[in-house]
Amino acid sequence: MKEIKWAVNEMPKTEDSQIKVMALEEVKKARAFHESFPQYTKTPLARLSGMADWLGIGGVYVKDESYRFGLNAFKVLGGSFSMARYIAKQTGRDVSELTYDVLTSRKLLDEFGQATFFTATDGNHGRGVAWAANKLGQKAVVYMPKGTTITRLNNILKENASATIEEVNYDECVRMAAAAAAKTPNGVVVQDTAWDGYEEIPSWIMQGYGTMAMEADEQLEEYGIGRPTHIFIQAGVGSLAGAVQGYFANRYPDHPPVVVVVESDAAACLYKGTVAKDGQPRIVDGDMQTIMAGLACGEPNTISWDILKNHVKVFAACPDWVSARGMRMLSAPFKGDPQVVSGESGAVGMGLLYCIMKMEEYSELREVLGLNKESNVLLFSTEGDTDPDRYKKIVWEGKEE
Ligand SMILES: Cc1ncc(COP(=O)(O)O)c(C=O)c1O
Repeated sequence: MKEIKWAVNEMPKTEDSQIKVMALEEVKKARAFHESFPQYTKTPLARLSGMADWLGIGGVYVKDESYRFGLNAFKVLGGSFSMARYIAKQTGRDVSELTYDVLTSRKLLDEFGQATFFTATDGNHGRGVAWAANKLGQKAVVYMPKGTTITRLNNILKENASATIEEVNYDECVRMAAAAAAKTPNGVVVQDTAWDGYEEIPSWIMQGYGTMAMEADEQLEEYGIGRPTHIFIQAGVGSLAGAVQGYFANRYPDHPPVVVVVESDAAACLYKGTVAKDGQPRIVDGDMQTIMAGLACGEPNTISWDILKNHVKVFAACPDWVSARGMRMLSAPFKGDPQVVSGESGAVGMGLLYCIMKMEEYSELREVLGLNKESNVLLFSTEGDTDPDRYKKIVWEGKEE
């Protein structure tokens, strides 16, 4: 079995100037915006007590994003909020004035007109952008990398977007989206990653993801747990990880949770940067073959990278079997624990937690993280069965073990 690689973060610290992107007041605006949607409900935070006992941990809590807006993944939180903030800026308003009702009103549509939002996606982000554009009376154009499944393409086409599968990888699709937007009147790139010179919209996307972190935080309070001691968060470009890490660092500045960032070993750009130790981002290119399609991104988000290197404890790079194991564990809970339908990019944190607690070869990592009966671990299952056929092949037929 291919091994998990991990590295403790020893990168030099910076001024930490990007942490303010995830300031609690900004996240509150995102939360209020999402709450204004008629489709909004808090997604469940599954408390897996039987699992925690068996693993030898105080508590395991899994945020179940398969319930998000009926879209089976968390990503829509970012695309929708960034579009609202863009429209707010163009119309000279504060985003807090732009609730769902206002954004969909005739008056605002007449004032703002119509933009075309361009993006690249493995599936979930593009579906979120297409969904939000459709709801808000805007246009969306989506580029998908080779290897993307037809199910994921069709889910985007259903939202009245224009979408195509290209012969190139995700990072090349990002460049295609940017080039096409530049040639289109009222063309706007809504990309879920930042690079030098493109930081405003990605920072709004990260704030949108903050809604999920804030909900989990409140739900832990409701369970009487309060601060999680550990958080496992998966990463592609790292926008999500930067958002979650940023939120909890701002929320608990004096006693922050220990954060582990988890990547697919086929696309482990953040892990690679950590191993290099100099604080510079590293890139992974090529086809990046992995079942974790949402994590198959090789170029780090520059805003997130700054947050992550200042705060994260450990970066881990996991082979596909780790995620497949997490999917099966979450789908077959201990009696009394809720089930979580968790897809390939959603379950890798669960799989890694299992390996750390149950496999001798990872006992050193258990020590480094201080995971024990006192720990309360927060995981994010960021997608459900976004590709239902593949989900069944893995969970029912045992593929990828
Ligand atoms: C389900 C899922 N989880 C996690 C991620 C990782 O997010 P990021 O690329 O911001 O690191 C993605 C990205 O598409 C995703 O679709």
